[in-house]
Amino acid sequence: MTFASRWPAILQAVMKGQPRALADSHYPAWHAAPVTGLMNDPNGFIWFAGRYHLFYQWNPLDCDHRYKCWGHWSSADLVHWQHEPLALMPDEEYDRNGCYSGSAVDNQGVLTLCYTGNVKFDDGSRTAWQCLAVEQPDGSFKKRGPVLPLPDGYTGHVRDPKVWQHDGEWYMVLGAQDVQKHGKVLLFTSSDLQRWQPCGEIAGHGVNGLSDAGYMWECPDLFALDGTHVLICCPQGLAREPHRYLNTYPATWMSGAFDYQRATFDHGELHELDAGFEFYAPQTTQAEDGRRILIGWMGVPDGEEMLQPTRAHGWIHQMTCPRELRYRDGRLWQTPVRELETLRETECQWQGAARGAPVLDATSLEFELETACVNVDFAGAMRLRWDEKGLRLERASLKNGETLTRFWLGDVNHLRVLCDRSSVEIFINHGEGVMSSRYFPAHPARVRFEGASDITLRYWSLRRCMIE
Ligand code: FRU
Repeated sequence: MTFASRWPAILQAVMKGQPRALADSHYPAWHAAPVTGLMNDPNGFIWFAGRYHLFYQWNPLDCDHRYKCWGHWSSADLVHWQHEPLALMPDEEYDRNGCYSGSAVDNQGVLTLCYTGNVKFDDGSRTAWQCLAVEQPDGSFKKRGPVLPLPDGYTGHVRDPKVWQHDGEWYMVLGAQDVQKHGKVLLFTSSDLQRWQPCGEIAGHGVNGLSDAGYMWECPDLFALDGTHVLICCPQGLAREPHRYLNTYPATWMSGAFDYQRATFDHGELHELDAGFEFYAPQTTQAEDGRRILIGWMGVPDGEEMLQPTRAHGWIHQMTCPRELRYRDGRLWQTPVRELETLRETECQWQGAARGAPVLDATSLEFELETACVNVDFAGAMRLRWDEKGLRLERASLKNGETLTRFWLGDVNHLRVLCDRSSVEIFINHGEGVMSSRYFPAHPARVRFEGASDITLRYWSLRRCMIE
């Protein structure tokens, strides 16, 4: 059966699924989420011809990782999104097991998608083609087929092209696994997006002195930021450490000097990009005003995702909020984009001992907390402990109820927290760190502050803002 013959089933899944998903108390009030099925990586994030476009890995047919299509949303302001026609589905030989992640570029005024065609064989092996598709006047995308086969020396795990233009040339970074099963980031160049020349490995195991850096690096993204270059990518197989890399796979960043002439990236150490329970495969784009904006998948593959209760309502996963990135003092700072402030309703304030603070409705809420060690209880389903060592975020495993903890170590003086039905994003010290997590409280969910320390609290309930 070709995938195209599944159109009627997709239509039915969306018609039946959307009202079910929207009626689920865990369905986000203002974050992007699938109306049915499984969503994972953000793809093709771009500001193009006056609008932001955000594509996404989407299996519209089931809450599992089969049948990856590219869904498509667009927005003028990163807050109000609308549905666009389904962009890609796996209906060709070269992408028959999934139109995997990739990026979008403006090629002389034509919105062009660069994605991975994933092909699996019966013996368990696979290959991957880097492919193009171009936008048509009706908003659909026409596939232009593969432009890059598997490079020599790598397994079938070569994917997730992030393409950009610099001084009239095109550049592509790819996530890869070499035949020794080491994770790498590869660089290619092209003058026309069609013919690509290899420029070697710019990061990964054995590059820049890195060792034990995992068996596969996914979803690379390389960009200039505040006088440096930043490479974001998702290494699989990094050893867990007592206080970081505790998720099945982490998302990481490193900064350094990228040399276009020599095709080298002289970078420093790896850092975890988000210290929460759910964050993976982020992608960035540059806004019209020059800001570097990131959106991540608030999920992690191969962990406890299949135990999330929203599957019973026919949908699973959501994106993070859009975040502005800055590089300062050797650190990568993330803050919610300022446009999100338009979701705020009336501001409320409170000052005094934490345990006397008002109990807040966590349904769709933003709050800021200043200068105090305090515990925050999220509807009895998640707990934030703030002490002189830093932050600990705790919740029960969906598998066995065991308490799981994530850490952000360091001095904390300010927290800004965004809550949306089943997610919490905690911005630490105005963006020095972030912890993004899903949780599944009974609604109406309440946030309670505990302890005797004095706190200064500002809070807003946030308007609902659904994709139209
Ligand atoms: C990351 C990832 C990518 C791949 C996509 C498939 O979550 O595994 O490497 O392209 O998801 O959905």
